Amino acid sequence: MPVSVCVFDAYGTLFDVAAAAREAATEPGRGAFSERWVELAEIWRQKQLQYSWLRAASGIHTDFWQVTQNGLDFALEATGLADDALRARLLQLYWELSAFPEVPETLDRLRADGRNTAILSNASPGMLTAAVRSAGLDSRLDAWLSAESVGVFKPDFANYALVTEHFGVARRAVLFVSSNGWDAWAATAFGFHTVWVNRKGEPTDRLTTPPDHILQDLTAVPEIAKAL
Ligand code: LAC
Repeated sequence: MPVSVCVFDAYGTLFDVAAAAREAATEPGRGAFSERWVELAEIWRQKQLQYSWLRAASGIHTDFWQVTQNGLDFALEATGLADDALRARLLQLYWELSAFPEVPETLDRLRADGRNTAILSNASPGMLTAAVRSAGLDSRLDAWLSAESVGVFKPDFANYALVTEHFGVARRAVLFVSSNGWDAWAATAFGFHTVWVNRKGEPTDRLTTPPDHILQDLTAVPEIAKAL
């Protein structure tokens, strides 16, 4: 069955999650933060993800913007960098993250081949709309689907089902692309064709069902979609 829809995770896959801290670190007067932004960004991301999984497991849902702020507050305290102005600036920058350089062309090539393109993300619709617009991707995507529609975060399968429902297609007509190993693994178990974008050269996750393809960035995604 040919792939008619190519769906991407948002943060870390299309949008550069480290960009907010990296950009803030270049601003004047940032003091110790300019030396320690990498550590803060790493803790922020890890806590944001952990909190999303724990909320999914406990059934006590809140939206991803709240989880993002909770993760940042933990990271600011853990690094001894807590500061209201810095917190506000990091959140502002996170709202308008830039896309990785290969993203616009990858989406354009998929669309030129007649495929639908979309995002499936844990992020709230407001976060996604802001990021999509600031990265200039609104005309390159048919939909940005949010976990808020189902009230539970990925990797709960209700999220992956949003794609088949939205586009009215079978699971095998979808190629799902994520830089989060756990997300690519879960989407494989759900029945999508999958790509794990291993941007950081990490070891493979020891989870249930490995993804079909592993890439370093998104450049080869249109070829993979074509070959299926
Ligand atoms: C997302 C996060 C998990 O966009 O990267 O869903």
